[in-house]
Amino acid sequence: MSVKRTPLVAGNWKMYKTIAEARQLVPDLVQGLSKVGGVEKVICPPFTSLMAVKALLEGTDIKLGAQNLYWEKEGAFTGEISPKMIAELCQFVILGHSERRTYFGETDETVNRKVRAALEVGLIPIVCIGETLAENEEGKTQSVIHRQVQAGLSGIQLQPDNSGDVPLVIAYEPVWAIGTGKAATGEFANRVVQEMIRPTLSMLFGDQVAKSVRVLYGGSVKANNAAEFFDQSDIDGALVGGASLKAEEFIGIVKAAAESLE
Ligand code: PGA
Repeated sequence: MSVKRTPLVAGNWKMYKTIAEARQLVPDLVQGLSKVGGVEKVICPPFTSLMAVKALLEGTDIKLGAQNLYWEKEGAFTGEISPKMIAELCQFVILGHSERRTYFGETDETVNRKVRAALEVGLIPIVCIGETLAENEEGKTQSVIHRQVQAGLSGIQLQPDNSGDVPLVIAYEPVWAIGTGKAATGEFANRVVQEMIRPTLSMLFGDQVAKSVRVLYGGSVKANNAAEFFDQSDIDGALVGGASLKAEEFIGIVKAAAESLE
């Protein structure tokens, strides 16, 4: 049975945009995206802007995501934000981004604790995986991807919801393509999803779930190269960094996703 997956385009603002700057960008996004249907749109500002952006998104179909959380329910964890605090504001949360793995010591194990905690409060995690340049060149892509999916998602249960979508999203982001302007080719990214990510998902959760999980590509996606990814059989959208900070670019990417449905 073939499965229809709703395309999803998420903007990862990283550590960009003050509240004042977010207030300038979001109205333009709302206006430009209001007529683009069929694509789930998510923006993920820094924690400090979540409240302000949430207010600006009221009444639109654009959803809100955070960029991280801590797995404990509450407690003396200075500087951390709990799953429930995020769930009060957001529907999505990016977890295990390569910048967090590289600069903040996140591992498959800590990513797994965060994924479980997010699912427990009803947040949809966008779990980032991807090989480094060295791993790619040493022919280790398959083993890295397999390990990150298996360890990152261990011990969780997944089922498609009423719409057929599974409440977990994977973003395949080869580290060498992030912020470098050197995107992977659509064909290469699709092969990783089709031959490495979905088979691992199938092993863990069965065929139906493996076919229903949305897998995004991330790494130097722009309005002018997005279609190359959205045209692929197994790629269901994009996680966009730099280009999500410019209204015109992000709107162009979402439009490309909508056009791929036609
Ligand atoms: P980029 O970042 O689009 O700026 O390459 C993608 C990401 O880090 O999610």
